[in-house]
Amino acid sequence: MTATIVNEQLIKQAIADRRFLHQYPELSGQEYETGKFIRKRLQALNIEILNEQPPSVIGFIKGTAGEKTIALRADIDALPITEEGDKPYISRFPGVAHMCGHDGHTAVLLAAAEWLANHRSEVQPNVVLIFQSAEEITPSGAETLVKQGVLDGVDTIFGLHLWQGLEKGKMGLVHGPMMASIDDFEITIKGYGGHGSMPHETVDPIYVATHVIQSLQSIVSRKLNPIEAGVISVGKIEAGTTHNIIPSTAKLIGTLRALTPQAVQTIKQQMVQLATGVCQAFGAKAEVEFIVGTPPLVNDLKESQFVESVIRRSFGDEKFTAVAPVMGGEDFSYYLQQKPGAFVFVGMGGEKSAYPHHHPRFDIDEDVLPDAIKLLIEIVRQYN
Ligand code: NI
Repeated sequence: MTATIVNEQLIKQAIADRRFLHQYPELSGQEYETGKFIRKRLQALNIEILNEQPPSVIGFIKGTAGEKTIALRADIDALPITEEGDKPYISRFPGVAHMCGHDGHTAVLLAAAEWLANHRSEVQPNVVLIFQSAEEITPSGAETLVKQGVLDGVDTIFGLHLWQGLEKGKMGLVHGPMMASIDDFEITIKGYGGHGSMPHETVDPIYVATHVIQSLQSIVSRKLNPIEAGVISVGKIEAGTTHNIIPSTAKLIGTLRALTPQAVQTIKQQMVQLATGVCQAFGAKAEVEFIVGTPPLVNDLKESQFVESVIRRSFGDEKFTAVAPVMGGEDFSYYLQQKPGAFVFVGMGGEKSAYPHHHPRFDIDEDVLPDAIKLLIEIVRQYN
């Protein structure tokens, strides 16, 4: 097997693509121009385009062996943020900007697609190229594509994130749970309202709410296995109108995160039990509603070990680093619920990428694009 050459022309093109996409960002679910741009590029490379719903674009490259099918995924959406700074390729649309680096992911997958299309004789597995809309919102683009059958016939799937939290020059992943679930909740506490001077004739839902909040914070410390991670945060309390009225209801609004499906389930069960029980103890009633978001991202052990071996073989042992799980979410998890696969961080933290993801001054470090491109190509070449 010859070494993959990610040549100058391919790198130049990737940088140009990412700067173009950066200047014309589109919000989640509205990436129609971005989709057209991708489609045109794939067509120019004679890559078959599968019939999935826009704005996502799915390409297909038939392999020489064609026994296995690998999917590679890039997300293509931007965020509702006004970009700050003075870079020449700054977003031209106020209020919309690529502040998570998905412009880079799109450019990297386009470059990998170009290499694969131009070296078809070296590509053994079939390759499905998923340019996915709407990573940043619920309902997520990944969930939609999975429902549409994008993974039918796919054996395994890989994706990457250019990652500011990992130092430039490193690549890494977790062999197992890597990113958290995102679910929101609303707890409505129904009491009995009345005059502020006559609490004995009421069931004060505000007072009850304080107990519910206290009890919720016992779940992570007392009910979750200490080696598992979880977060419950009440972000908003809605209740009451003025000084001397005890309202009849109070509402607690918040979010919960965990790294495994089991932990998510434990947290939810306990929340219902505690909210219901505490309210009942005070003569109130609780209604607990979950707004289900992204599941936890859990890498398949065999596939994540494969990615580690690809990194070590193609870049050297010093390139790979074991990373710690992060409590942020990522809708790549929907694919991993269906098929084995792995998600990997390509480190870029440093001087050129100094601000965190979603910060108005966030930027990717384009120096790491060649390695990201090479990683995807090598995953395809070394997969068997
Ligand atoms: Ni992202």
